[in-house]
Amino acid sequence: MTFPLIAKTIAGLEDVLARELDSMGAGDIMKLNRAVSFSADTELLYRVNYTCRTALRILKPLFHFEILEQKDLYEQIYEFPWENYISAENSISIDAVISYTVFTNSQFVAQRSKDAIVDRLREKLGSRPSVDLENPDLKINVHLFKDACTVALDSSGQSLHRRGYRRSTGPAPINEVLAAGLVKLSEWDPSIPLYDPMCGSGTLLIEAAMVAKNIPAGFFRELWGFMKWRDFDADLWEKVKTGCQALKTDLRLDFFGTDRAEQAICSATENLQFTGLTNDIFLRVCSFEDSEPPFEKGFIISNPPYDERLKIEDSLAFYKMIGDTLKRKYAGFTAWLISSDLESVKFIGLRPSRRIPVNNGPLECRFLKFDMFAGKKGFSEVL
Ligand SMILES: C[S@@+](CC[C@H](N)C(=O)[O-])C[C@H]1O[C@@H](n2cnc3c(N)ncnc32)[C@H](O)[C@@H]1O
Repeated sequence: MTFPLIAKTIAGLEDVLARELDSMGAGDIMKLNRAVSFSADTELLYRVNYTCRTALRILKPLFHFEILEQKDLYEQIYEFPWENYISAENSISIDAVISYTVFTNSQFVAQRSKDAIVDRLREKLGSRPSVDLENPDLKINVHLFKDACTVALDSSGQSLHRRGYRRSTGPAPINEVLAAGLVKLSEWDPSIPLYDPMCGSGTLLIEAAMVAKNIPAGFFRELWGFMKWRDFDADLWEKVKTGCQALKTDLRLDFFGTDRAEQAICSATENLQFTGLTNDIFLRVCSFEDSEPPFEKGFIISNPPYDERLKIEDSLAFYKMIGDTLKRKYAGFTAWLISSDLESVKFIGLRPSRRIPVNNGPLECRFLKFDMFAGKKGFSEVL
């Protein structure tokens, strides 16, 4: 039996997420804003949670209703038979997302929704569940758009970007879901050598390696929300995991990561050791301007500082350095860079052949492709 689901994602990754869900056999796929709706049975719900690289969480809608005035929220949520899903000994947490509604504060919506559930359970069971924001037994999502409210169970629990492999980070690590999305958007192919010259803790390289080796996105993770549901089917879950793990390959990779900060390379090394990828990804402390191409041609995918979380002294000079280095040393490469610093990226001085809007947290970024053609004509410079 299939049921409707919603996969949430990062703005700009809706297309790649829809393609990923399609390749997994999901039905009724429809792209939404920062989300994709689809249908699946329980087995596919487990598989999507275990293997999908570009979803942040998978929601299972329970009921919908209309909100004309504020009191409708409490009353409608109170009416739902929560006692069929949770007992008084369990814990809950509520995520609320609102836009264009009678409410102006999502915290207040979460609070009122929690009150309704707790009051209902106290009435029906004599006592109430507790609230646990970190590791609840049931995570509930309340989504309000204009006068439409959807209440859903969060089957993922913690966001799926928490892959479980990150042992150490730098000051501005990229979200794992975004990193996987960029790898997919770049149309990089696992047979192509890959280099991240500002690799930080190594997220982009690790996500690409997991794609290349077919390592499930959740391979290093232990807990998902659905594992605490009353209808959790442990045998089916084991079957799903075993089936996905059987598809892993031991393809040898030729990846390279450098960063000018020694601490970043220490973090990346720790993460590679944990994931068992030390023989596939070679790391070195080196600034990009002093780097030599680790292979004759290949792909660069990188997340340089944007002068937001990681300050740069002179961002125009920094981006000019990136462009100069690409032109001087990286003919034959395809380079993809993500940045929110749209003024400074102009100083790269190369015309991007693609420019894909994508968000990094609250920052509106562009993912830019530079084709560094080898040969006489060279690349297209912007003067
Ligand atoms: C936004 S962080 C990259 C984060 C990384 N994607 C991760 O997930 O951890 C940018 C990185 O660029 C490095 N960096 C800055 N200037 C550099 C340069 N000139 N050459 C090489 N690395 C540089 C910083 O040390 C930092 O680790």
